[in-house]
Amino acid sequence: MQTLVNVSNRLPVTVGKTIRQASGGLTAALEGLLSDAFRLKWVGWPGAPVSAAERREEIAHFLLQEYNYVPVYLTRSEVNGHYHGFANSSLWPILHYMPNYMHYDEQWWETYLEVNQRFAECILETADEDAIIWVHDYQLMVLPRLLRRARPKQRIGFFLHTPFPSYEIFRCHPKRVELVEGLLGADLVGFHTYGYLRHFRSTVLRLLGLESHAAAVAHDTGHTHLGVYPIGINAPKFEAELASPRSARARQQIRKNFAGRRIVLSVERLDYTKGIPNRLDAIDRFLSSYPDLDRLVFIFVSVPSRESVFEYQQLREQVQRQVGEINGRYATMANSPIHFIYNPIKFEELAALYSLADVCLVTPLIDGMNLVAKEYVACQDENPGVLVLSEFAGAAEELFNALTVNPYDVGQVADALQRALDMPEDERRQRMRQMRARVTAFDAQHWAKSFCDDLVKHEERTDSLDMSAETEAVILDRFRRAGRIAFFLDYDGSLREFESEPHLASPDSEILELVNRIQGVPSVDPYIISGRDAQQLETWFGSFAVTLVAEHGYLFHRPGARRWETLNASGDFSWKPRVLEVLRDYEGETPGSVVEEKGSALVWHYRKSDPEFGSWKAHALAGELYEMLANLPVEIHHGKKIVEVSSIYVNKGAAMERFMREGRYDLGFCAGDDQTDETMFRLERDDLLSVKIGEGATRARYRVRDPRRFRALLRQILDLLESRAQ
Ligand code: UDP
Ligand code: G6P
Repeated sequence: MQTLVNVSNRLPVTVGKTIRQASGGLTAALEGLLSDAFRLKWVGWPGAPVSAAERREEIAHFLLQEYNYVPVYLTRSEVNGHYHGFANSSLWPILHYMPNYMHYDEQWWETYLEVNQRFAECILETADEDAIIWVHDYQLMVLPRLLRRARPKQRIGFFLHTPFPSYEIFRCHPKRVELVEGLLGADLVGFHTYGYLRHFRSTVLRLLGLESHAAAVAHDTGHTHLGVYPIGINAPKFEAELASPRSARARQQIRKNFAGRRIVLSVERLDYTKGIPNRLDAIDRFLSSYPDLDRLVFIFVSVPSRESVFEYQQLREQVQRQVGEINGRYATMANSPIHFIYNPIKFEELAALYSLADVCLVTPLIDGMNLVAKEYVACQDENPGVLVLSEFAGAAEELFNALTVNPYDVGQVADALQRALDMPEDERRQRMRQMRARVTAFDAQHWAKSFCDDLVKHEERTDSLDMSAETEAVILDRFRRAGRIAFFLDYDGSLREFESEPHLASPDSEILELVNRIQGVPSVDPYIISGRDAQQLETWFGSFAVTLVAEHGYLFHRPGARRWETLNASGDFSWKPRVLEVLRDYEGETPGSVVEEKGSALVWHYRKSDPEFGSWKAHALAGELYEMLANLPVEIHHGKKIVEVSSIYVNKGAAMERFMREGRYDLGFCAGDDQTDETMFRLERDDLLSVKIGEGATRARYRVRDPRRFRALLRQILDLLESRAQ
């Protein structure tokens, strides 16, 4: 059975004189997985400072024996820098669209890295290479990358429990690049909603220049898949609680305490994301015209949270002041409208309150998901209440039968409250039925299972073309046995990594040395076969004994020759003026884009445009060209930051075939990274050995992930050929 190492900032335990398991939503979700497929281990901070080494060991021993939990102990100053500082004063506000609340301190960042590193060390000690590692939330955003560095093949998932904000917000953070790169260490990154995923994709594109296809980002250490997994609640636990005598007693007590009053309930950590002051304004507005002040009570369960952080202290003071003012203004001899509890309450009381509340008022300014809304729904049965829910909570996407409100619109929230209290039973029942069905069907266990299933599924998708020690041996053997060999090497994205501007991608000393070695092997004829123009190729490689093939096979230049020749001069190019006109229009409409005119092709480049706008216009352009040129002898190619129209008579494959024929080679070795290189790969001749560089579907026989690895392969081949020549 496979081990699942679950990693969260906090372990679900309370460490005091005794140690108790605290059963949160995550615990319940993972319990469900156990029986099925995994043996669970959990790594996390036990939440309390334990200074005596002996006691630490004792606790660690107990946690491992009892629950299979592994504690990561943190010193007081680590907790300050990592938890109070970087995680909660820097990341939490930025992830919740509140850059004004963001503080930044270089020392916090250092501590954040150190603590993430400590987690990594602990995990590596406890997890073998076959284990699946699932990391949770913003306190551990750089952990996937640290783990990936140590274990390239380990299966790593990450789930973000908060929103991921739009790039315009996230870019404010001084460590934006490091944080995003941290997450890309994972094989799968999960979000609550598609909106968060979309923001993440756009951030990856804009910060790192990495495009994502079919919800996966390709980068230098592999692939990161992205997915949407809205977290659910532990519904059976609430159902069981409500059926118990303990809960019956709790309900009886609450009915007695608030006899004759309708209950409007709010439950949350006291956090500025939860919109408490705005809600109190709305309640104030509502009460100012409500006639029956004796018969209504607002119960606020506010759980103290992150009290060392200044904004939380400030919020507590503000909320307590507002509550005092409202109570002063609207209290009668029989009732005080807001019953404010600044403490956690017992589970049976929480379940009882949920089941009795006429209205649950959940109005965060922003919230990754909001479990309270779902828990309230799960506790409604016979005579259901009404959920008033902020449209800015992730839960609003699923609970669309709630009364949704804009929490900033005080008047709208006050009206929704009135509407909820007046809602006829039929409508309440109808709205609640659908929400309840969803919340109970898609619960916490379903969430954990779907995430883990995907994480494992991606594992099975490893590419059969990928190089291994065996395939390398097979390739080298082909070279060992071949007589005359031709190398057809693409340049950009194959020999050389891309740069932000094409002219910056000149060959460095490593590449020049490689080309020099290739030209020196007597049994090899080298061809550099590129989409670049003749002049550029000649400037870079004119001094080598290499045949240069420019413009995807339109022109070629033999070593030492005076002139360039065309490979296919008889093609029909009458389409060029019409196409040029369209491309010029797109050039005008799309800032940053330019048109390039080549002998056999026209290219629209959008590398310097806004990446999303550029990509959108490129799709539109390609569509327009397909329609316009349907019956003409051209190919339309939407490549990396380009849309190219070229003659079908001209392609790398056709050029390569001709050279193979003329040279009577025993072996053709062709390598490339994009669609234009597929024209070589798809020939599938027995005397061809083809290598794709990078991700994506291909007809090539083998794959290496990036130019660096391709150059390493070339060096291996050259070592062999050179030693054979001696
Ligand atoms: N909760 C609790 N004790 C309380 C009040 C609330 O354990 O006294 C729980 C509640 O049942 C819910 C969680 O706290 O599961 C709050 O989760 P939510 O997603 O609403 O907000 P978060 O605190 O994660 O921002
Ligand atoms: C949110 C975060 C969690 C965090 C919880 C309680 O739900 O997404 O990661 O554990 O709040 O916050 P705390 O600071 O008490 O751990």
